[in-house]
Amino acid sequence: MSTQLLLDKVTKDFGDGDTTVQVLKHVSLEVKAGEFVAVVGPSGAGKSTFLSIAGALLSPTSGRIVIGNQDISTLSDKQLNRIRLQRIGFIFQSANLIPYLTVRDQLLLIAELAGSRNKEAENRADELLLRLGLAHRTDHYPESLSGGERQRVAIARAWMNNPEIILADEPTASLDSERGRDVVEMLADEVKLRQKAAVMVTHDLRMLDLCDRVVYMEDGMLSERPAEVLHPIH
Ligand SMILES: Nc1ncnc2c1ncn2[C@@H]1O[C@H](COP(=O)(O)OP(=O)(O)OP(=O)(O)O)[C@@H](O)[C@H]1O
Ligand SMILES: [Mg+2]
Repeated sequence: MSTQLLLDKVTKDFGDGDTTVQVLKHVSLEVKAGEFVAVVGPSGAGKSTFLSIAGALLSPTSGRIVIGNQDISTLSDKQLNRIRLQRIGFIFQSANLIPYLTVRDQLLLIAELAGSRNKEAENRADELLLRLGLAHRTDHYPESLSGGERQRVAIARAWMNNPEIILADEPTASLDSERGRDVVEMLADEVKLRQKAAVMVTHDLRMLDLCDRVVYMEDGMLSERPAEVLHPIH
């Protein structure tokens, strides 16, 4: 299986001069097509920083990020923008929907930004909304949706441009455990069905059986850990 996402000895320093803190300390991770990796670890460990760097939302202090065969570490902001739009789907802890856009328009905006708003994009939006159980909500605004529905819109939006990489930062944090499990099951299905590479940061150890691999982050360092160490009982 081919490597879809590679982070190679990534470091991230925050601050300047005397007050510099190294939040990531030579972190490496390889994710293959069709693989769903969970990142767990204590608050402040560097998980969100790591995910933001993997998604080209934040640049590393040193190290390489490779997406497919392309090293993105040296790209310009404009080039990174395109990569984010076309190759990466990001799902945040809160859905981050735009209040004045309907559910369908949240998805179409993504196509528009990528310069591909056409009939095909409209069909794809409708198909995704159907798949995520939102067909009856397409013309609703975020304020009239439940937390679970909003998070499913955020997932549909992340899939809109058919990205090869899906990154999710605590996507179930605002959901009850049943809804949360639904959301993670959808992510897992998409990874398998369309051979995506996915990384999910989570505090919810009950979701780990849906992932292929669990890595543990502590104090800016990443280590492989078998899921059963963290989650002995299902
Ligand atoms: N922009 C920033 N400037 C300075 N320090 C930062 C910045 N962003 C994050 N940090 C620091 O980096 C460390 C890691 O933060 P990060 O958000 O990656 O942790 P996390 O593992 O996602 O934690 P949580 O589980 O609470 O979300 C923290 O100590 C945080 O204070
Ligand atoms: Mg975080």
